[in-house]
Amino acid sequence: MNIDGKAWRTIWLESDGCSVGVIDQTLLPHRFTTSTLRTCNDAAHAIRTMVVRGAPLIGVTGAYGLMLALQADPSDAALQTAFDQLNATRPTAVNLRWALERVRDLVMALPEEQRAEAAKAEAARIADEDVGMCAAIGDHGLAIFQRLAEARPQARQVEPFHVLTHCNAGWLATVDWGTALAPIYKAHRAGLNIHVWVDETRPRNQGASLTAYELSREGVPHTVVVDNAGGHLMQHGQVDAVIVGTDRTTRRGDVCNKIGTYLKALAARDNQVPFYVALPASTIDWAIDDGVNGIPIEARSEAEVTHIQGLDPAGVMTSVQLTPNGSPGFNPAFDVTPARLVTGLITERGVAEASEAGLRGLYADD
Ligand code: MRU
Repeated sequence: MNIDGKAWRTIWLESDGCSVGVIDQTLLPHRFTTSTLRTCNDAAHAIRTMVVRGAPLIGVTGAYGLMLALQADPSDAALQTAFDQLNATRPTAVNLRWALERVRDLVMALPEEQRAEAAKAEAARIADEDVGMCAAIGDHGLAIFQRLAEARPQARQVEPFHVLTHCNAGWLATVDWGTALAPIYKAHRAGLNIHVWVDETRPRNQGASLTAYELSREGVPHTVVVDNAGGHLMQHGQVDAVIVGTDRTTRRGDVCNKIGTYLKALAARDNQVPFYVALPASTIDWAIDDGVNGIPIEARSEAEVTHIQGLDPAGVMTSVQLTPNGSPGFNPAFDVTPARLVTGLITERGVAEASEAGLRGLYADD
C-alpha cells in the first residue's frame, strides 16, 4: 500500500541481503518508523512486543527469524532452539507455527551450508504468497459487498454501504492488502460508496490506531467508534455488513479473533446483519474442531487494561493509568466466534460456509 506516495510492504529483506526490515507498529499512527531485525532474538522480540502483529505478518516474521538464526548457526540444534523460541512468542495465531514448520521442514532436509539461503527464499515465498492470497480475498469480498449493496432497498441506495470491522486486519496485519480490509480497499477503488465503522479495539486499540491510519492513507471514509457502539449501530440499521479477520480458524469453521469479535457476531445475528470472516489458508488449523475449548488464548499483561497509551499535548508517546491503584485487570487477547454465527468465510479460493464441509469444499487436499 502507499504511504506518502511510496509503496510499502510491512516486511522486507534489507539491501544487505541478510537482515530484515519492518514497520514499527507500536508507534503508529503518530510516528512512522522502521526497524531492522538482525538476529533471531530481534525477530522474537519484535513479535512479542507487537512491533509486528497480525496473524499473517507474525508468520512471515517467524520465517525470516529462522533465516536469521540459520545465518548464525545452521546446525539442527540451533534450528530447533530458534523454532521453539519463535513459536513461543505468541500462542494464538496459527500462522506463526505454520510458517515456522514450513521453513523448518524444508531446511532440515538440506546440508547445513545451504540452509540459511533456502530459509531466505522460503520466507520470501511465504511473503509473496500472502500478498497474492490477500489480493484474492479482496476480489471475493468485493463481489459480496457489491451484491449486498445492490440488494438494499431503493431508499437506502443513496446511503454509503456501511461496514463494521474490529481490530486491524488490514495491510499492517499481513504483508500487503490485509484480509478483512482487502475487500474494503477493492470496493473503494471500484467506486463503491463505502463507509467503515472502526471499532477502537481496547485494550491495545489496533482499530483506533492502525485501521484508522490505514483507511486515512487510502482515503476510505471511516468513523472510529468505541467497542460498545456496534450493537447500537446495528439496531438502527447503520451497519450493512461486519467483516473481521481471524488468527485461527478451526476445521469446523469456528474463528478466533481479537477479543470482542464474538460480541459483534452476537449483535450481528440478533439484527440480521451478515457477519463475514476473511482469511488465507495459512490461518486454518485442521487439527482443531472445537474453537472454544481447543484454541490457546493469549493472556496479555494486565497493564494493557489498567493503562492506556497515547500522544500527550507535547507530542510525546505516554501511558496513563485508568483504574484505581490495586484494582486487578484481566486481559485475554482473543475470543472464539462459533461457526454458527458466521455468514461466510472469505478465502483466497472463494467463499465457504463456516463448516467442515464448506472448508473441505475449497481445500479438499489440505
Ligand atoms: O493482537 P493482534 O494485533 O496481533 O491481533 C490481530 C487480529 O486480531 C487480527 O484480526 C488477525 O490477526 C487477523 S489479521 C489479518
